[in-house]
Order: sequence, then C-alpha cells, then structure tokens
Amino acid sequence: MTTIDDTSTAGTPAVVPDATPVLQARGLVKTFGRVVGLDGVDLDLYPGEVLAIIGDNGAGKSTLVKCLTGAETPDQGEILLDGNKVHFKRPQDARAAGIETVYQTLAVSPSLDIASNLFLGREVRRPGFLGTVLRLTDRAGMRESARRELRELGISTLQDVTVPVENLSGGQRQAVAVARAAAFGSKVVVLDEPTAALGVRESGQVLELVRTLRDKGVPVIIISHNMPHVFEIADRIHVQRLGRCAATITPQSHTMTEAVAIMTGAAQA
Ligand SMILES: Nc1ncnc2c1ncn2[C@@H]1O[C@H](COP(=O)(O)OP(=O)(O)O)[C@@H](O)[C@H]1O
Ligand SMILES: [Mg+2]
Repeated sequence: MTTIDDTSTAGTPAVVPDATPVLQARGLVKTFGRVVGLDGVDLDLYPGEVLAIIGDNGAGKSTLVKCLTGAETPDQGEILLDGNKVHFKRPQDARAAGIETVYQTLAVSPSLDIASNLFLGREVRRPGFLGTVLRLTDRAGMRESARRELRELGISTLQDVTVPVENLSGGQRQAVAVARAAAFGSKVVVLDEPTAALGVRESGQVLELVRTLRDKGVPVIIISHNMPHVFEIADRIHVQRLGRCAATITPQSHTMTEAVAIMTGAAQA
C-alpha cells in the first residue's frame, strides 16, 4: 500500500507526469567566452516520454544536450539522474550511466560493418586466453547479438549486419546510429536532429524507432526543427529561446504556429 503525502503533489501542473524525472537539469549556465550558450535552463525528462526540444538556431539546444550527455561541462547548475546529482566530465561518463546520444554529426565508422558499429567501444572479447591476452573479439557472438537487437527494435531496413556501413543509405546509417544508442539497456536516448538529412520514408523509420523505444520504456529527448515531426512524436515540447526555456508545451496545448511564435519570441506561452 502506498500512502499519499499531501504536500508532495500540491500545485503540480496537470501536464507534468506525477513521477520522479529520469533526467533533470536545474539552472544550467554555459558560456563560451562572451557568448552565452545557456542562461539558466531547467529541463525535466519523465519516464516513458518523448521530450522534444525546439528552438531557433543558436537558442542553445545542442549545448543543453551536450551538457546533459557529458560532451560539455556546465559552468553552473546541476544535473540529476533518477533524482541523484551527477557530474559528467566526458561522454563516456554519461554513457556509463545509461545516457546514449546520437549527435548531429553522425558517429558511425563507415568502413566497419553494422555489427561492429553497434559494438563500437564495447567490443565483446572471446572467452579465455584468446580474449584476455590476444584481445580477439567474439565476432560471431556480436553479430548474433546485433541481429537480435535490430529485431527487437523492429529495424527491418538493416537485413545483413555484415555489410559495411559505407554501403548504406543515409537513413540506414541513421538507423545504425540510433540502434547503437538504443541497444544494450540504455536508460535515456538523446537524438540531436536525427531526421535533418533524411528523406520522407527514412524520417518515418527513425520516428517509428523513437516510438518503439518509448514503448519499451526508454525515455527519449529529440531535438528537431521539423514541426510536423515534433508534433507527431512528442509527448511534451521544451521550447528553448536565447539560452533559456521559454515554455514547456504539448501537442495538445498548442498549435504548431503557436509553438513557432514562442520559439521566435513573437508570443509567450
Ligand atoms: N564551442 C562553442 N564555442 C563558442 N560558441 C559556441 C560553442 N558552442 C555553441 N556556441 C554558441 O552558443 C550558442 C548556442 O549554440 P547551440 O547550442 O549550438 O544552439 P542550437 O543547437 O540551438 O542551434 C550559439 O550562439 C553558439 O554560437
Ligand atoms: Mg544545434
């Protein structure tokens, strides 16, 4: 039985899920010399949601995500994972904590095959002497795991995991990058403009993948300029403007036109 603490839910806005955020930012500040990238940003990511971040160029979207994922260190403010303060000094720290990121610039190795890309940085060694001393990788095992992960993510566009990534289309490469982030029990997946360079069909596949992730219980942060995509996929929308969060809205509470107006400063939430 759970008891209700009558102070804990007082004043909670209706749109905010009643749960501890998986990932939180409080008052993040990040400057680059005299340029203010982030000017005191709060962000909440709740369990099982897709949170979109929108904003004009230079609004601080990428910097925000970089601070959350260890690629930048904020000057001020704090980041909490499952309610506990974390201090990521490099992307590997965030990754070790379960935060997987697909950056705007795709991080796949074109000459390696799909399976090797999925296991990049966490190669599985062969058992015993071959693995510990000779550092031989368990290629067959990784290929089998790669096939299983792709199947579980419903990715049908990548049939053969032994194909070098350089032979794939843009959308398929993006699928590899997202699959890599989504595989291996990650806690949060962050995507910076995942459909920017893709055609309609390929974008649809990436959005479908985001949905699959959410349905598997993995919350997703997705930066996008594409309003129809944002309104199709997001549960909530963080509107970033001039280094701050101008509003947090939902596809139900606001129209695309209203969202753009908040983004550009033509209107307030
Ligand atoms: N490494 C950097 N060095 C200097 N300025 C930066 C750096 N990264 C971001 N900025 C600046 O910080 C601001 C926010 O940038 P960014 O987070 O990339 O915005 P967005 O992703 O919303 O377009 C911009 O004015 C940008 O020029
Ligand atoms: Mg950016």
